[in-house]
Amino acid sequence: MSHAVEIVEVGPRDGLQNEPGVIATARKVALVDTLSRVGFRRIEVASFVSPKWVPQMADSAEVLAGIARAPGVRYGALAPNLRGFEAALAAQADEVAIFGAASEGFSQANLNCSIDESFARFAPICAAAAEAALPVRGYVSCVTECPYDGPTPPEAVARVAARLRALGCYEVSLGETLGRATPRAVARMLEAVLAELPAAELAGHFHDTAGRALANIDAALDAGLRVFDASAGGLGGCPYAPGAAGNVATEAVAAHLAAAGYETGLDRDALDRAAQMARALRRKERA
Ligand code: HMG
Ligand code: MG
Repeated sequence: MSHAVEIVEVGPRDGLQNEPGVIATARKVALVDTLSRVGFRRIEVASFVSPKWVPQMADSAEVLAGIARAPGVRYGALAPNLRGFEAALAAQADEVAIFGAASEGFSQANLNCSIDESFARFAPICAAAAEAALPVRGYVSCVTECPYDGPTPPEAVARVAARLRALGCYEVSLGETLGRATPRAVARMLEAVLAELPAAELAGHFHDTAGRALANIDAALDAGLRVFDASAGGLGGCPYAPGAAGNVATEAVAAHLAAAGYETGLDRDALDRAAQMARALRRKERA
C-alpha cells in the first residue's frame, strides 16, 4: 500500500459555509491565495447553492474570479442542480462536486428532496460535466449517523456511493457529517462500501465534534483509503454552538500523517500560516 496520502483542502467551502455572519470576499480570496502556496492539488473554494439556504456562499463567483490560480491546483465548487453547475462552469471552477446523502432525513433537510430525486438532479449535471470535460466528485453525507434518521446502515452508504460512481464521479468522499462516529463504525461502513468501490476511488471526510476524527482517519487508512478532506484551522462548526468543532483541522491531519510515516507533499510552514489566517478570520468573525 502506498505511503502517499493526499489532503483535499475544503476549508474555504465546508469551513466558511458554517461560519456565522458575513465574511468579506477579499478575506476569502486572501485565505485561498495563502492555501494555494501550501502544496494542495485540490482546494474546494465555492458552492453554487441557493443563497437563501447558505448565504455565506453567495459570493462564490466573485471568489473564483478573485483568486490567483496556482499551477497544478484544481479549484472546486459544489453544485446541487444544473443551475449550480452552469454557474460553476461560468465561474471557471476546475471541478464540481455533487452531494447526496445516505439517509432520507438528511437529503430532505439539505437538498429539500428525496435521495431518488437528488439523483434525478445529479444526472444532468454529470452529463453536462462530461460534455464540458469537467471532473465530478461525489459526496455522501451521514455515512454513520444522521441527525434525523439515527444510525445509517452501511449498505445504504454503499448504495449511494455506487450510484454516484455509476453517474461518473471520479471519486466519492464519505462524509461523517456529525463528527461523532467511532473508528469501529467507520470500519464497518467502509467494509460495505469497499464491496462496491475500490479504495482508490474513495476519500474520507471527517468532522471532529467528538475529537475522534484522527482515529477515524486511522480506521480509513487501515481500510486502504489515501485521500482525506480537511479544513485549515479546523474551520466550521455549528452556528448555533459557538466553538463546536467543524472539519478536522488540516494541520492536525498533516502532522498525524507525518508522524505515521505518510507523505502529504505539503509545506508545513505555509500550512501553519494558512491555518493561522483561518483561525484569525474566525476570531474576527465571532468578536
Ligand atoms: P428548493 O427550495 O427545493 O429549490 O432548494 P427550488 O428549485 O424551489 O429553488 C428555491 C430557490 O433557490 C429559488 O429562488 C431558486 O431560484 C433558487 P427564489 O425563487 O426562492 O428566489 N436556486 C438557486 N439559487 C442559486 N443557485 C442555485 C439554485 N438552485 C435554486 N444552484 C436547493 C433546492 C438544492 C437549491 C437548496 O436545497 C440548496 O441550495 N441546498 C444546499 C444546501 C447546502 O449547500 N448545504 C451545505 C453543503 S453539503 C455539506 O456541507 C456536506 C458535505 O460537507 C459532506 C458532509 O460533511 O457530510 C459536502
Ligand atoms: Mg462536510
